[in-house]
Amino acid sequence: MSDSLWYQEAVFYELYIRAYADGNGDGHGDFRGAIAKLDHIQSLGVNCIWVMPMYPSPLKDDGYDVADYCNIHADYGTLADFKAFLDAAHARGLRVVTDMVMNHTSDQHPWFQAARQDKNSPYRDYYVWSDTGSEYADTRIIFLDTEPSNWTYDEAAGQYFWHRFYSNQPDLNYDNTAVHDEMMAIIRFWLDMGIDGFRADAVPYLYEREGTNCENLPETHQFLQKVRQLIDEEYPDRVLIAEANQWPQDLLPYFGTPQHPEFHVCFHFPIMPRLYMALKKGDKTPIVDILNQTPPIPQGTQWMTFLRNHDELTLEMVTAEEREWMWQQYAPEPRMRLNMGIRRRQIPLLDHDQRKWFLLNALFLSLPGTPIIYYGDEIGMGDDIWLPDRHGCRTPMQWNAGKNAGFSLADETYLPLNADYEQVNVAAQERDPDSYLNMTRFLIQTRQSQTALRRGEMAWVETENTAVLAFRRHVNGKDGVLCVFNLSDQPQPFTLHRERVNMLAPSQPMLNGTLTLAPYEACWFQN
Ligand code: NOJ
Repeated sequence: MSDSLWYQEAVFYELYIRAYADGNGDGHGDFRGAIAKLDHIQSLGVNCIWVMPMYPSPLKDDGYDVADYCNIHADYGTLADFKAFLDAAHARGLRVVTDMVMNHTSDQHPWFQAARQDKNSPYRDYYVWSDTGSEYADTRIIFLDTEPSNWTYDEAAGQYFWHRFYSNQPDLNYDNTAVHDEMMAIIRFWLDMGIDGFRADAVPYLYEREGTNCENLPETHQFLQKVRQLIDEEYPDRVLIAEANQWPQDLLPYFGTPQHPEFHVCFHFPIMPRLYMALKKGDKTPIVDILNQTPPIPQGTQWMTFLRNHDELTLEMVTAEEREWMWQQYAPEPRMRLNMGIRRRQIPLLDHDQRKWFLLNALFLSLPGTPIIYYGDEIGMGDDIWLPDRHGCRTPMQWNAGKNAGFSLADETYLPLNADYEQVNVAAQERDPDSYLNMTRFLIQTRQSQTALRRGEMAWVETENTAVLAFRRHVNGKDGVLCVFNLSDQPQPFTLHRERVNMLAPSQPMLNGTLTLAPYEACWFQN
């Protein structure tokens, strides 16, 4: 693999620094604590860590409300601690990308404070203001459960300001090129420190234009191409990852064109809910349909796939009818729902059924794209739907059955521990060969050992059975892996046309002819 294309074949791990390990006993995770846990991350077989926002912030949106872009939140350590974390990760061959929150700041950011207090401040024009709060009426509200409008009146400013997320997160004004310059300087600051790239937050929303839905605008793409140009010219081996929760056809422009490249990687949002949908229905159709609708992407780019992350399981990229069905099936209690999604972790969604977990993870790790694993999901951590917002999926990492699950020595932690930590923790799972932890390692290692799974093409294999999903991953027609999944709770037949070994059951003998797939069985057959 050419090193500059490392992100095409990598497996990522999403790290919430506040949740991971508390090095100084104050109840919040920090970089010193995380350094001591890099062995765990490395042991999973992943290649890159995405660190969620670690900047100074009032934490009204867990750090996606940035108050200072070029520093570290005091609870998480110092810039020196971050650098030590970065160096320690690099020493283990792990890359590190961080979150770049370009669309908005916290209302506590000095830019916004200056802007609201003085109409003549140069920072006033860093934000988007209105006398009436009536503009851009065609723009949807994202945080539907809490925000009545994308405009909020600010007393000190005497005007309304524009925000796509919480009303404490004013949107930056990208019509002001001073904002571009600020962002470019921030990007250079972190890349100069040695990080390997950015996960760029909320990129569809940078510009506003009357009469549009204010998403995916041409001006937004032009700015993002400027960011990419900076990377290509000054930091060619780093990666830019787009968080754009959009339909496949609207996602394609985020990869740019050969003349004007944009992102190296885009999250594939629409596939994610359909994996859960197909599993619940015992029917592969949602997966096949969305992948057939996914356009080919430019050379050198990649999709990023995920099963869960720090947000609610978003149902924005399904139809209204499908959303209702998903809520009924996966979030029967109103409390499990949030905005347009479901605030639950992977394992409760799968009824704590190891067979479903194995199938879904084997499927996810064999699809084209760069997979990303959310911290805690490697041990099947549970959630707490009674915590506010998305906090129930952001509780402390569970290391052992001791005080605070080994996360912290403090008497009080930033969020309470999950009730399941005495049973569900890293130490217990280290000892059990069949644990989620060891199965996660096994699946990742097996994927990493197969070129076809890392970067092969995908071709459907007809099964004439909607419950059995099958496809081949191959490199130029060679070195294929045949991936077969029984999505149903009933045994299903599947015919092999020659002898093959199932890499997911290495102790089984070679198989041939018509097999009976067990309920929820997953197979990766070697060539
Ligand atoms: C997307 C992030 O994933 C989410 O956690 C955050 O609330 C919004 N962007 C706003 O930054």
